[in-house]
Amino acid sequence: MQAIYRAHSNIALIKYWGKKDEILHLPYNNSLSITQDSFYTDTEVEFSDSFEEDIFILNGEVQSETERIKISKFVDLLRELKGLETRARINSFNNMPTAAGFGSSASAYAALTAAINDALELRLSEKELSTYARRGSGSASRSIYGGLVEWHAGTDHESSFAEQIDTADWGLSTITVIGTPKQKKFSSRVGMQKSVHTSPFYKEWPNVAKEALNKIKRAIKERDIDEIGKIAEHNALAMHSLTITSVPPILYFNDKTMRAIAAVHEIRDLGYTAYFTIDAGPNIVIICPRDQAEDIMRIYNEKISDDKLMLSNAGPGIQKLESWVHD
Ligand code: PMV
Repeated sequence: MQAIYRAHSNIALIKYWGKKDEILHLPYNNSLSITQDSFYTDTEVEFSDSFEEDIFILNGEVQSETERIKISKFVDLLRELKGLETRARINSFNNMPTAAGFGSSASAYAALTAAINDALELRLSEKELSTYARRGSGSASRSIYGGLVEWHAGTDHESSFAEQIDTADWGLSTITVIGTPKQKKFSSRVGMQKSVHTSPFYKEWPNVAKEALNKIKRAIKERDIDEIGKIAEHNALAMHSLTITSVPPILYFNDKTMRAIAAVHEIRDLGYTAYFTIDAGPNIVIICPRDQAEDIMRIYNEKISDDKLMLSNAGPGIQKLESWVHD
C-alpha cells in the first residue's frame, strides 16, 4: 500500500479567485493555466496498520500538528472512498519555496491525490483525480494534467474538474522571477474570501474572467503568444484589483514586484513579446515565446541582477516514480 508520484505546479493565465462553495472548493469562474516543467512536488504515500496516526514530512521535516490535521482531513476523503481507516505516512519534497506563490499547493495536492489513488488501488480516472485534488487546493485540480489546462467551475463535486485543452508544445514558456522567496502574508484562501465579501467590484469578476477565457482560448488556437500574454497580464491585474479594493485592502505586491513589472515593460518596449502574471504573492511570472526566453532573461538580469530566474516550458501531467530520489 505504497506509491510515489510527481506533479508539476501550474501558473494561471486566467485566474481562479473566489469560491461559491468553501467546502467543496467550487469556484465562481473557470480558470486556465499552464503546467510548469521546472517546479514539482514528489510525494510518497504509505498506508500501514503499524502507524497510530498520520505523519506528514515535508522536505525532510516532520510538519506541525496543524499541517498534519489539514492533510489528514484530505486523506480521509479518499480513505472513505475505500472504506478504510488505515493511517498513512506522507513524505513530500518540493523543489520550490513553499507557500510563497509558486503554486506549491497545486503540485502538492495533485501528487498526493495521485499517490493515494495508486497506494489504495482506487483506480480513479484523471478527471476524478482532478476533482479530489481540487478538494485540497483549487488550483491542484489543474496540476493533474500537462500543457494548457482549463478548470471547469461546475456546480457540484463531480462537475468541477480540469482537463487539458492544448499540449502547449509549440514554444509557450514562462520565466518565474524569484525576488521574494518568503512565505506570503495572506493565503489565497483568505485573500479570495475577503475579495468576495468586501470588494465592491467582485460582482463583475466572473464576467470579466469568462470573457478573458473565451478570448485566450481563441488566441491559444491561433498560437498567438502576444495575444495570450496581453490577456493574461490584464486578467492578473484585474484579480489584484479585487484584493486592493477589499476592506481592509490586501496588497500582494512589494517594491520588488513593481521593479520587476517595470523591467518587463522595458523589455517589451525593446520589441520582445514579454508579459507578466502574478498569483497571490509578490513574485511575477513572465510569459514569452521559448525562442526569446534566453534574451529576455539576460536583459532582465542586466537590469535586476539579484532576482533569480527559472525558465519553464510546458510541463507534463502526474507521473509515477519507481523510487524516492531525495535524501
Ligand atoms: O489553489 P489555491 O486555493 O491556492 O488558489 C490559487 C489562486 C491563484 O493562484 C491566485 C489563482 C489560480 O487560479 O491559480
